[in-house]
Amino acid sequence: MMGKIILTGDRPTGRLHIGHYVGSLRRRVELQESGAFEKIFIMIADAQALTDNADNPEKVRQNILEVALDYLSCGLDPKKSTIFIQSQISELTELTFYYMNLVTVQRVQRNPTVKAEMLLRGFNDTEGADNKAGTPVGFFCYPISQAADITAFRATTVPVGEDQEPMIEQTREIVRKFNATYGPVLVEPDILLPENSACLRLPGTDGKAKMSKSLGNCIYLSDSAEEVAAKVKGMYTDPGHLQVSDPGKVEGNTVFTYLDAFCRPGDFERFGDCFKGRKSSFEFHDLDEMKAQYRAGGLGDVMCKNFLTAILNDTLEPIRVRRKALEQDIPYVYEVLREGSDKARELAADTLADVRRAMKINYFDPEILDELVREQSEKYANA
Ligand code: TRP
Repeated sequence: MMGKIILTGDRPTGRLHIGHYVGSLRRRVELQESGAFEKIFIMIADAQALTDNADNPEKVRQNILEVALDYLSCGLDPKKSTIFIQSQISELTELTFYYMNLVTVQRVQRNPTVKAEMLLRGFNDTEGADNKAGTPVGFFCYPISQAADITAFRATTVPVGEDQEPMIEQTREIVRKFNATYGPVLVEPDILLPENSACLRLPGTDGKAKMSKSLGNCIYLSDSAEEVAAKVKGMYTDPGHLQVSDPGKVEGNTVFTYLDAFCRPGDFERFGDCFKGRKSSFEFHDLDEMKAQYRAGGLGDVMCKNFLTAILNDTLEPIRVRRKALEQDIPYVYEVLREGSDKARELAADTLADVRRAMKINYFDPEILDELVREQSEKYANA
């Protein structure tokens, strides 16, 4: 039985935020430490980022380092996980080109994630005044390139957020089509979704569905303790909870959604002081007790927010400390990326060789060349 292999990654279009942390980074580190995987590949998807940032390569270039710093400071360990840069593995581009023949335009058009992203980026307008209107072909093909990313490393397991589900489904279809057409070469991967629903998609601090840089509702992994406190202070809660004594709603209350994602056993003991006030004090043992009190009334937003700030800063502090140290050793970070890219290229080249052999486009492999020459010579000798 072959070992399990992980491949996953992020587009380097900005610093990573705590939504990335609960949605993927924390899990990746756990998977890394679990010992259940033979190999782990973490890819900085710069080529994919360029599919909708072709005019801004500098942004992508800058963010490669930001993402690498975030990875390493969260605990991804280059001795256990291969961290690499997508564009440095040219084998991926070649695989993409062959896979393109196995997917129809109509099938990509039905991909819900592609549809949503096209709308978001205004790629659906064909009559726009500037040359941004319309869909870049490279962007349109990114689900196919993502299939190349995953299959090149023979990944069995792809830990991603639920927005990536249609991508993994599309990859599985490509694998099945390839194997049926050319022989059993590619591995069909499984998606691994976050376990906890609050982690599936952490809302922005304003309560909007998604954290996004353009909405200005993110808490970044690199934010200082003061920035985190200020952002939590301004966080969306229950607009109907006007007086402390009023009953409050927990559902849709961002503070509680974040607590669902971040609160761990022991936090009530360690940060219990947050619930000691001049007017009222509480002693909770778990999140359910705290929620019950909020629903009943009497528990104010300020206490809840102080508790959340304490938990967030407790989680983020070690990450900040490691990030500060790494920022002082940039040559090391680039060395990690270079070594990771070299290692990743080896496996991708191996898979590409298998793919070429299966497609019979390996004309100059020594045995094949001999056979080809013999076959074609005979054809002409008998003519
Ligand atoms: N599309 C992913 C994202 O936007 C990034 C990505 C590119 C990826 N290639 C991948 C994720 C392969 C998992 C597997 O976050």
